[in-house]
Amino acid sequence: MPIGIDALSFYSPAYFLDLKNLAVARNVDPDKYIVGIGQERMSLSPPDEDVVTMGASAARRILARDGTEGIELLLFATETGVDQSKAGALFVHGLLDLPKRCRGVELKQACYSGTAALQLATAWVARNPGKRALIIASDIARYDLRSPGECTQGAGAIALIVSETPRLLVIDPPSGYVAEDVMDFWRPNYREEALVDGPYSTRVYLHTLTLAWQQYAALSKLGYRDHHRFCYHLPFTRIAMKAQSRLARECGEPIPSEEDLKRLIGDSLMYNRITGNTYTASLYESLSALLDTSIVSLDGLRVGLFSYGSGCMGEFFSGTVQPGYRSHLFAEEHRQMLDARTELTLGQYEDIFNLMIPRDGEDHLFAQYRTGPFRLSGISQHKRVYEELFSVAK
Ligand code: CAA
Repeated sequence: MPIGIDALSFYSPAYFLDLKNLAVARNVDPDKYIVGIGQERMSLSPPDEDVVTMGASAARRILARDGTEGIELLLFATETGVDQSKAGALFVHGLLDLPKRCRGVELKQACYSGTAALQLATAWVARNPGKRALIIASDIARYDLRSPGECTQGAGAIALIVSETPRLLVIDPPSGYVAEDVMDFWRPNYREEALVDGPYSTRVYLHTLTLAWQQYAALSKLGYRDHHRFCYHLPFTRIAMKAQSRLARECGEPIPSEEDLKRLIGDSLMYNRITGNTYTASLYESLSALLDTSIVSLDGLRVGLFSYGSGCMGEFFSGTVQPGYRSHLFAEEHRQMLDARTELTLGQYEDIFNLMIPRDGEDHLFAQYRTGPFRLSGISQHKRVYEELFSVAK
């Protein structure tokens, strides 16, 4: 049974910071961010938006088109959870009015848990033919102001439908996955900002890629050239060039030229370059960009995907793009959403960064910013209060 991704929608908050302005403020050559790190802009979520509203907004677009029937599994992947007990999935379940018969949980393993959700969902669909799984991966990447990670912040969410009639990408069964207990990036419960050993995290990412690939290649009997495109977890887009070169070397292939890189990964970087890191959503944002922006038809082509979550988990797997996939994308909606973002000044960015939700349980009402169809309107009696502003037209 060919199981895979039937629908994919990406959501970005409506604000961004231009990294040239950040570079000037931090006394850094802008080319370091734009060329060396590979980032131009970062999406910024306003105070009345969180992983729940972003995830629900991403999913709403799909459900407005395809309905909710048969969705009996809801997996919510995040490392920016809003509650220590209640899963983000249940807040979203209410906002989207999903069927009562639905299993909903939250999954955590840094940036990897979206892929855990996808693989668990493919197994679940095999066991429940005809049913659909909704996966949401939603995150806000925060590092300390003036730290090396600051320029790699970002925010966004993706929603995927997994089914046995996938109109976009059939997920191939072989997969290579690797677990190792390392401290390259983490966020203790008492911190809002991640802690990271940046150079070490990059080395572990690339090492895990080679281990996951070795397993995958042995299981699938596929080689480097059997893959027509590649999508990577993108904490910053320059890492994809490093990853592609590492993979080529591992496979005894020549180091990819600029032209090779453009063909193999160029389109997949288009969104992440202007949104920044979206942690769990990042790999699927990259897939979304590839499918949405490739001028060449990808019908029938194989895409290699590498998912990485610090701490760490890495997984290499692949998918085959389905003929006619283009008619089922939200490419135009994604383009309009990204184009319509409002630029913030550095001062506005820092003000929003420093604005924290009261932690003493005091009731709080949020000022209204530009958001998607849902917003976090307040905290009342220790409960988050969400509101729906408008429904998305079909
Ligand atoms: N023009 C062009 N390039 C320039 C430049 C200039 N003026 N100045 C510097 N550069 C280049 C450097 O040569 C370097 O290139 P190479 O990587 O090819 O050597 C690149 O810009 C970055 O420079 P530095 O290494 O000096 O940058 P840094 O010390 O400021 O840190 C970073 C970079 C480690 C990515 C940092 O931004 C960071 O810590 N980010 C957060 C952690 C992260 O993203 N880790 C990735 C793996 S972990 C993961 O994937 C999980 C996750 O989502 C976090």
